[in-house]
Amino acid sequence: MFAKNIYRNVYNSIKSRHLRVMALKGMALLNLPIYRINIDTNNTCNLRCVMCYMSLEETHQTKSQLMPMELFESIAQQTFPQTRFLELSCGFEPFMNKNFLDYARIARKLCRGHISICTNALLMKDQIIGEILRENLLDELIISIDGITESTYNAIRVKGNFSKLLSVLDSLKRQKEDRNKPIVRMNYTMMRNNIEELEDVYEFVKKYDIKVLQLRHAKLTPPFSQLFDDSLFFHKELYDSVISKVKKQFDNDKNRSLIHPPLFSENQSNTTVANKQNCAYAFFNFIISSNGDVNMCAIGSIGNFYQHSFKEMLKSEKVKDIHASLLKGDYQALCKDCYLVNDLGDVQHKSTFIQEDTLPDRLREFKIKVETEKAE
Ligand SMILES: C[S@@+](CC[C@H](N)C(=O)[O-])C[C@H]1O[C@@H](n2cnc3c(N)ncnc32)[C@H](O)[C@@H]1O
Ligand code: SF4
Repeated sequence: MFAKNIYRNVYNSIKSRHLRVMALKGMALLNLPIYRINIDTNNTCNLRCVMCYMSLEETHQTKSQLMPMELFESIAQQTFPQTRFLELSCGFEPFMNKNFLDYARIARKLCRGHISICTNALLMKDQIIGEILRENLLDELIISIDGITESTYNAIRVKGNFSKLLSVLDSLKRQKEDRNKPIVRMNYTMMRNNIEELEDVYEFVKKYDIKVLQLRHAKLTPPFSQLFDDSLFFHKELYDSVISKVKKQFDNDKNRSLIHPPLFSENQSNTTVANKQNCAYAFFNFIISSNGDVNMCAIGSIGNFYQHSFKEMLKSEKVKDIHASLLKGDYQALCKDCYLVNDLGDVQHKSTFIQEDTLPDRLREFKIKVETEKAE
């Protein structure tokens, strides 16, 4: 966890895209891993969370897709040895792939970096937990829990089951015993209807020995216009008051950390604002879908593993042109659809929370149409 934080802090402390790219090139020359790869081995989910594209009807009309093991292995050989952060699931539910642990085993063999997954955890049977622990398959297990009471959790995580979640957390704690890994992180996507119960979240994370609590704002786009009013951008005082209380509890606990977006009342120059002007993600962050498509951060597709090798994609005219434009400072058009980089960023702007004209990659992938209706 600390190595991950140090790496992030060093990256954020470099305030120029050129210098960041030079640092990455230097690391590559020293044979150090540089990529951040997010890869999904499937495109399905067992839940229908209200703020997630998986709750939209169109996503279920898309053919379900499992990445063949041979393709995964080939991608792994081409990219994992140079990968510093490998997220073995990002947009869907990893355990919908029944053989997911076999994919994780390949990853563990080939990746020299930090391996994590993000999951709703509801399909994690005792045996799966045991194998992950015994074989040290993951460095970090990120579990999404958007409510700590049955009614809130089940209302947001539609088709979820809070008591099942608690039994998984119990099993994880029991089987983990004194092992350090994986670090258990709780992801909490914040909205108006679940912010207040964060006042009791510290007791919850202590009880289940969760080491990191990551709070993130819900990011909403047109298919979710019915949720726009629930964005905390419209409930600033409430957010600041709850987070200040939660922060105090975590400040006194050296074993646990809290990651949260800035308070609205905070002086923005005190926060580590990631911004598009000096972002170097396009040089190291790749998102790979279960059908072999490769996206360069939020900029877009650079090819497909069924047609091209990773080396060929990186050497393509398209990638060279994008990199050259970014290094010239022409990023506005290329980065316009990105809502990754302002995660901890400028909370004074509504666009950090609600993007009325943007269709995130995942929705584009599902060919979902956007309503043009504007939020109040
Ligand atoms: C899309 S899920 C995929 C992994 C897994 N199924 C899970 O729920 O953890 C990844 C994360 O995105 C979060 N998420 C879903 N919709 C979101 C939204 N509109 N804004 C911000 N985060 C969102 C989820 O809460 C979860 O933590
Ligand atoms: S569990 Fe994850 S992928 Fe599934 S609907 Fe919820 S947020 Fe989306």
